[in-house]
Amino acid sequence: MIEPDFLRATRTFYSTVATDYADRYRNVLKDRPFDRALLTGFAETVLAADLGPTAELGCGPGEVTAHLHALGLPVFGVDLSPEMVALARRDHPEVRYEVGSMTDLDLPDGALGAIVAWYSVIHTPQDRLPALFAEFQRLLAPGGELLVAFQVGDEPLRVAEPFGHPVSLDFHRLRPDHIAELLRGAGLAPHTRAVREGEPALLESTPQAYLMARKPAEGTGNTGNTAGLA
Ligand SMILES: C[S@@+](CC[C@H](N)C(=O)[O-])C[C@H]1O[C@@H](n2cnc3c(N)ncnc32)[C@H](O)[C@@H]1O
Repeated sequence: MIEPDFLRATRTFYSTVATDYADRYRNVLKDRPFDRALLTGFAETVLAADLGPTAELGCGPGEVTAHLHALGLPVFGVDLSPEMVALARRDHPEVRYEVGSMTDLDLPDGALGAIVAWYSVIHTPQDRLPALFAEFQRLLAPGGELLVAFQVGDEPLRVAEPFGHPVSLDFHRLRPDHIAELLRGAGLAPHTRAVREGEPALLESTPQAYLMARKPAEGTGNTGNTAGLA
């Protein structure tokens, strides 16, 4: 199969900056208490459902995968960039990391209890997002959970010469309503979202969004709490 240009460009970018990126974002969750709270809520939800392993797709140097592992989740990481995967394995030897593309994973239908895409769908061209979310839906077990994190906005940010390296890449900013609509179109049921303002001290220039969606359990059409009093 011929690899699409955007995957080649994304791999080249991240492989080139991998060491600097890993140094910059080591302990990335330490100064982000609300991100940690979100990941804890997600991990507890996934552990309670007990539907299979969790995959962090686009794991980079593996910080978030390792955090989820420390919370007790059976989790592995996947990244396009072999350099990123090598750093993740080096820094977090207790966790499994594999090289691969989230667009084309060699896993059977329903193999995953949960998927985390933490700032990693942001390099997929807009017109390819519906197919990507359909693939997430295929990979999830019925009742499985998806967590997507991304920067909020309308225009892509072109990042050029990061850390002085001669590469560039588009970072797409996305709208939570639009992503929720695409997830619904792929057969997933968004049920939780959070948006926090960008934190200038952390060099975040846009609001940060977090969306959780569930694959409906088979036969029930059940996508969440339909019987409660509230
Ligand atoms: C902004 S980094 C985020 C890394 C990590 N999730 C974190 O928050 O530190 C985006 C990562 O997604 C990976 N990525 C982008 N598209 C991918 C794809 N189609 N399949 C696998 N990994 C991908 C890149 O190689 C890069 O390491």
